[in-house]
Formats: sequence, C-alpha cells, structure tokens
Amino acid sequence: MAIQRTFSIIKPDATKRNITGKVNAKIEEAGLRIVAQKRLQLTEEQAGGFYAVHKERPFYGDLVKFMMSGPVVVQVLEGENAIAEYRKVMGATNPADADAGTIRAEFAESIDANTVHGSDAPETAAEEIKFFFSDDEIVG
Ligand code: TYD
Repeated sequence: MAIQRTFSIIKPDATKRNITGKVNAKIEEAGLRIVAQKRLQLTEEQAGGFYAVHKERPFYGDLVKFMMSGPVVVQVLEGENAIAEYRKVMGATNPADADAGTIRAEFAESIDANTVHGSDAPETAAEEIKFFFSDDEIVG
C-alpha cells in the first residue's frame, strides 16, 4: 500500500476540553504523521461549505453550529493507507458503537460532538486538504 495523505479535524468538543494532545498521541501511536496542522475558528461559510454533502440531512444546521462553537485544529496526516487507517483509529461515528481504544470510544461525547473528522476516500481527502491548506504548508 502506498503512502497516502488524509485530512483530519479535531472538533470543538476536544479543543474545549483541552485534549488535542491526547488525540494527537492516538494519531501518532497509530503510525500516522501529522505533516500539517493549524488551529482555526471556522466561519459559517467554511463550516457550511465543508459539510455541504449533508445539507439535506436533519442534523446539518446543528452540525454547522457545533463546528463553529469553538476552535478546531485542521490537520494533514500521512502514512501507509492513511485514509482507512485514520478511519479505524477514529472509530464509528456514534461513540456508543466505536471499538475500544479508538479516539471516539475514549473521548467523544455524543454522535454530534464526536471529537474528530477524517476523510472517507482519496477524492474527498484531496478536496478537503485543498480547502484548508496550500502546498507550502504541508511538510512531509
Ligand atoms: P458522517 O460523514 O456520517 O460521519 P463521519 O464523521 O464518521 O464520517 O457525518 C458527519 C458528521 O455529522 C458526524 O461526524 C457527526 C454529524 N452527525 C450527526 O450529528 N448526527 C448524525 O445522525 C450523523 C449520521 C452525523
């Protein structure tokens, strides 16, 4: 499997509880490298645009509001099979269903305040990385 990059967000529930380092430890323990990282306050345009695929879903409004409720940390992660590997380390969307040891099992508060986002496919990873980072901000 080739080296891949994926996009990650540490969500406002984690910045609020000051546990971004604990999340990063899980990422690094899984063998993924954090090759870009910045802390941001998302605008409504950024949060709404980022989750535009969910526009018609009933939880969209609350999701956008939650993503703006505090700072986030956006990241590019690199490693073998990084997209699937990170999804594995994140755990299921609903922490009640997440495997033991995953980020969401250990840290997520609920299905909406679920601590992390990770890209689900190579195309979305490329788009999401481009949405937040320029090439010179990523140092592998
Ligand atoms: P989704 O892409 O299905 O999950 P994942 O983050 O695991 O890729 O959903 C995106 C986010 O939308 C999810 O992290 C939290 C929020 N969400 C809800 O608030 N309620 C829901 O019922 C679902 C499915 C998602």
